[in-house]
Amino acid sequence: MEVKKLSDDLNDVVQSETYGFFPTPITRIKSNIHDDLKKGIMEWISKQDILPKHGRESICHGISQIGDTNKLINDYQPLRETILDAVHKHNESSFNYKQNLVISESYLELATEGAIYAPHEHSNCVYSLTYLVNYNHETHSFIKWRKNVASNHYPILQLDSKDPTAFNMTEATFNMTEGDIIIYPSNVTHGFDSNPSNDRITFTANITIN
Ligand SMILES: [Fe+2]
Repeated sequence: MEVKKLSDDLNDVVQSETYGFFPTPITRIKSNIHDDLKKGIMEWISKQDILPKHGRESICHGISQIGDTNKLINDYQPLRETILDAVHKHNESSFNYKQNLVISESYLELATEGAIYAPHEHSNCVYSLTYLVNYNHETHSFIKWRKNVASNHYPILQLDSKDPTAFNMTEATFNMTEGDIIIYPSNVTHGFDSNPSNDRITFTANITIN
């Protein structure tokens, strides 16, 4: 067998490179105390009201809020610490803002079978976050994100592509499982399609600066 030497052969020099500029940071952090947090949240749920009206009915269907806005995060310190720790990890590996990051709005949501969250963004915060509290990756909807572009036409023309690539895809997701805390820039379009089964419980928070 001919062993190829490390060489400066000009034929081996890369002649063509395509750069992917301006990536979107989406962080997935698995809570290492998820079982304890879930137990605490479930106990908290048993004393709360289920609120079918919560102010977000125009962008979702089949979603109820459990307890009042910000009540869980104020009642349950271990959750607050876990969430803020995750936010700081995400910030350090993404935009690295110097400012103090705080939770502006948070709620626990219950999605029934057939629930949807229409694609939407938030303009009044820097990061948004979803913690998958009671989640079966085979029977509950996953979150999807959409590419943000300044033009309505992306890619440049809506032509058929031979295969998906990092450059032509307009929606993206990844495998997510219960216990994941998923953090992303609030202005990236996000939502989920029809949820196949009941009892999808997620904690959602919006993060701003003070
Ligand atoms: Fe959202």
